Amino acid sequence: MLTVKDLTNLQGKVVYVRVDFNVPQKDGVIRDNNRIKAALPTIEELVKKGARLVLMSHLGKIKWKEPDPEKIEAMKKANDMAPVAGELQKLLPGVKVHFSPATRGEALKEAVAALKDGEILLAQNTRYEKGEEKNDPELAKDWAALADAYVMDAFGSAHRAHASTVGVPAILKEEGKPVALGYLMLKEVENLTRCVEVKKEDRPYVAILGGLKVTDKIQVIDTLLKKCDYIIIGGAMSYTFRKAEGANIGKSFLDEGALEYAKKCLEEAHGRIILPVDSVCTDSFEPVEGRKIIEVEGDIPEGFEGVDIGPKSAARFAEIISKAKMVFWNGPMGVFEQAEFQEGTKRVCEAIRDLNGKAFTVCGGGDSASAVKQFGYKADFSHVSTGGGASLEMIQNDGHLPGVDILK
Ligand code: 3PG
Repeated sequence: MLTVKDLTNLQGKVVYVRVDFNVPQKDGVIRDNNRIKAALPTIEELVKKGARLVLMSHLGKIKWKEPDPEKIEAMKKANDMAPVAGELQKLLPGVKVHFSPATRGEALKEAVAALKDGEILLAQNTRYEKGEEKNDPELAKDWAALADAYVMDAFGSAHRAHASTVGVPAILKEEGKPVALGYLMLKEVENLTRCVEVKKEDRPYVAILGGLKVTDKIQVIDTLLKKCDYIIIGGAMSYTFRKAEGANIGKSFLDEGALEYAKKCLEEAHGRIILPVDSVCTDSFEPVEGRKIIEVEGDIPEGFEGVDIGPKSAARFAEIISKAKMVFWNGPMGVFEQAEFQEGTKRVCEAIRDLNGKAFTVCGGGDSASAVKQFGYKADFSHVSTGGGASLEMIQNDGHLPGVDILK
């Protein structure tokens, strides 16, 4: 596969760069610009080479099935990319960043034609186009017609076979134009490939999974059971597994449809699935005054729900992690957004910090990556992925992602 480094003779050429600027924002205020910063090495390299950059990204979700056009407009307004262009300009003070409110058609063509060498045009949210998520061939054709080369640097979106991630590079490749991976993609693919193609020296390999629904993670659990020595399961999904073991889980979240699957996993894992033995529970998930918070071992009492792993579980998990040579972690251990229920997730961060770099440790994006950053442990990991869904899909599909495979 070509990388952005391999691309030459770019002076005056239009390069279509798919980035993942799907940043957390509200009313135009960006709460975390990490994903924008992560794409800067690729952008700077292309600017240095004199290319004219057309950056494309989605932002949030536009539910096109919604029949009410006013609601569609409201979703568009809530996911307007213009503030992201402002943020990018702040991060690149020496480079001219333009914004195109148009996603297609003459207005976009004109904005691209007006670009000078080394300048950037960020286009409006790709999902303003109904055809983006359907990989509409006409849309992909229109976008591909703008570009002399394509660079994929949107790891967080590489599991989506959309027009901007798969349709455009497929056409350009067909036309003999260069398609390449950006630096962010390269780093992500290299690190996650190590979690997929497990070497002897990376054992024991420990996966840590959390999150809500077992159903969403069935494929990844199946794959990890084949690859890992241990799977530690915490977070809301652990209550479905504990129920499958025969425990009472009170009013904890139960993924009813996955109960039989959880039983099957426990049988087949022969002790390699490690579940919490105690929990922090509450009678109210909402942080209301006077709510009861208790720590229990074993069964969870009626009227209470588990919201974090307890201290004994944290110690047990830490002991298993301490022997690991490789760790892949996706999903927090509890409701870490509330201060009372952060401890379990913090203890996992600490266990990884205590490995002192003696193991290869990957945090697979999403909520666990937010927790790692929020608690200040990012530097203790070998790699913290920018993509939640993408890193899980890469693991479950044995290293394959549509947005990467198309570049091969
Ligand atoms: C993400 O935030 O996980 C990526 O940007 C993908 O977003 P999506 O789930 O809306 O496709």
